[in-house]
Amino acid sequence: MYRSHTCGELRLSHVGTQVTLAGWVQRNRKLGGMTFVDLRDRYGITQLAFDEAVNKELNDQAQKLGREFVVQVVGVVAERSSKNNKIPTGDIEIVVEKLTVLNASEVPPFTIEDETDGGDDIRMKYRYLDLRRNVVRKNLELRNQLSFEVRNYLIKNGFIETETPVLINSTPEGARDFIVPSRMNPGEFYALPQSPQLFKQLLMVSGFDRYFQIVKCFRDEDLRADRQPEFTQIDCEMSFVEQEYVLNMFEELVKQVFRNIKGIDFKEPFLRMPYAEAMEFYGSDKPDIRFGMKFVDITKEAQIRDFAVFNSAQYVAGICAEGCASYSRKELDGLTDFVKRPQIGAKGLVYVKCEQGGTFKSSVDKFYSQEDLKSWAEKMNAKEGDLLLILSGDKVATQKQLCELRLEMGERLGLRDKNVFAPLWVVDFPLLEWDEESGRFKAMHHPFTAPKPEDVQFIETAPEKVRANAYDMVLNGVELGGGSVRIHNGEMQQKMFACLGLSQEEAQSKFGYLLNAFKYGAPPHAGLAFGLDRFVALLAGLDSIRDCIAFPKNNSGRDVMINAPSIVDKEQLEELNIAIKLETK
Ligand code: AMO
Repeated sequence: MYRSHTCGELRLSHVGTQVTLAGWVQRNRKLGGMTFVDLRDRYGITQLAFDEAVNKELNDQAQKLGREFVVQVVGVVAERSSKNNKIPTGDIEIVVEKLTVLNASEVPPFTIEDETDGGDDIRMKYRYLDLRRNVVRKNLELRNQLSFEVRNYLIKNGFIETETPVLINSTPEGARDFIVPSRMNPGEFYALPQSPQLFKQLLMVSGFDRYFQIVKCFRDEDLRADRQPEFTQIDCEMSFVEQEYVLNMFEELVKQVFRNIKGIDFKEPFLRMPYAEAMEFYGSDKPDIRFGMKFVDITKEAQIRDFAVFNSAQYVAGICAEGCASYSRKELDGLTDFVKRPQIGAKGLVYVKCEQGGTFKSSVDKFYSQEDLKSWAEKMNAKEGDLLLILSGDKVATQKQLCELRLEMGERLGLRDKNVFAPLWVVDFPLLEWDEESGRFKAMHHPFTAPKPEDVQFIETAPEKVRANAYDMVLNGVELGGGSVRIHNGEMQQKMFACLGLSQEEAQSKFGYLLNAFKYGAPPHAGLAFGLDRFVALLAGLDSIRDCIAFPKNNSGRDVMINAPSIVDKEQLEELNIAIKLETK
């Protein structure tokens, strides 16, 4: 037996007990004739004590222990004279009688502490050491807890976890596919699933009724803090349900997770916000509703004087930043620079300070009277001491810019507290969106999403008007999950493919199996998928989902620890009938 207890377990009640512990040496310090070693495992840290006066040889052995050595000790639990109230085992120590080095360690390339001296790259290269750190391990434990809660809830509600294949064909979720060459079928490729979308629908045709899977998905897209090329979905599908039923089922799942993991009870039903409203007031289909600062459209009020910038704009709107009238020139210039960044793209920023005594100071007071500015302030519900920040231009672009500005102001004003959770459903998405690049409509969610029955009439004449039975769960400005009621009728599915510019032949060759399945009694069905990584990151208050993935990829999609992707042998390429066009390093 390597150990009788863990390093996080022993308390005053164990004093006098003989124990065996095993773990890693966190630190080793000498104090007069005593040596103290902190022994660490997944569960905590226990202090080991060695006394030169009692056993010199053992004490000498202890002094030689380096950081991260793996050791086993046998000793007796004793009350500590100087207690450490920062750790749960801080009242006791082990008076060691026997020490065995199970394995030595080289000096690690960074300190295995919560506050480490290791930068991102080095920690990723030695991720197995990084994972020894409390702060990282805790995130993975939370991930495990979340998966457990999810499985528990779904299985109790009759969902069956079913695996679906990974070597498949393209599933159109809007990203590029990762493809895998087939040796047995020269010149042919599998695609890795962007999601198990079509398989879960086929399982509904098979009568499975309630499916779920905690499943890896693969998307070759530009990476961001909340995107990884391989990520995990909590993927779900149900038959014989309407949207309302699905929303309630999964809202309850989220509520249960928060109750059991965070001790937070959401008593009220989650807000349901139509997509159009989210865009109008937040400029985003994933509004952060932890704070207000909604957009106010002042186009009419702004286009009354000789100010060409506003007069030529399709849309003039602003937000009211409470208590910010005291912003200095420098702060305002900083905000202007912020909105002018290329990734945001505004041309400029207009401000109005609502000063004490009911006067207004503005960057456009050459053009507008105090009365004009007052009318804006009134429309924007501003009080004395508030600051109006106004952007103008093309409506959609301006809304996006204003969205960034709102989030930035929320951040500056401390309104985006990671311990506050504000979930909502965004509903009534458009079925289609215009894609400038290809010059045709593409599915906003995916091509299997059902239009709202009352909007089907427009599908051929005014496709942009058609709304979908699609919904997203949004939490603190992050899209946590999304789904839809599906098309379950071959004819409607064909119509949808036609809308997306897919000929009958193309549709048949890409998705013939689904269209065929629909000929054999497909039940009405609907579903959704949550991003598990995003869910953990939100629960843990992380800035990036990387921190809750055991072995994540970096921003260039590389795993620097295993050096993937990498070049493959010539023989392997030959076997696959693949020739590399570019000269590789
Ligand atoms: P969707 O594409 O919206 O829907 O994905 C569902 C959820 O998966 C998460 N997600 C990601 N997480 C990390 N990295 C990524 N690259 C990434 N991409 C998506 C998000 C998102 O809300 N088949 C449909 C679901 C359905 O209709 O049932 C689908 O995949 O949290």
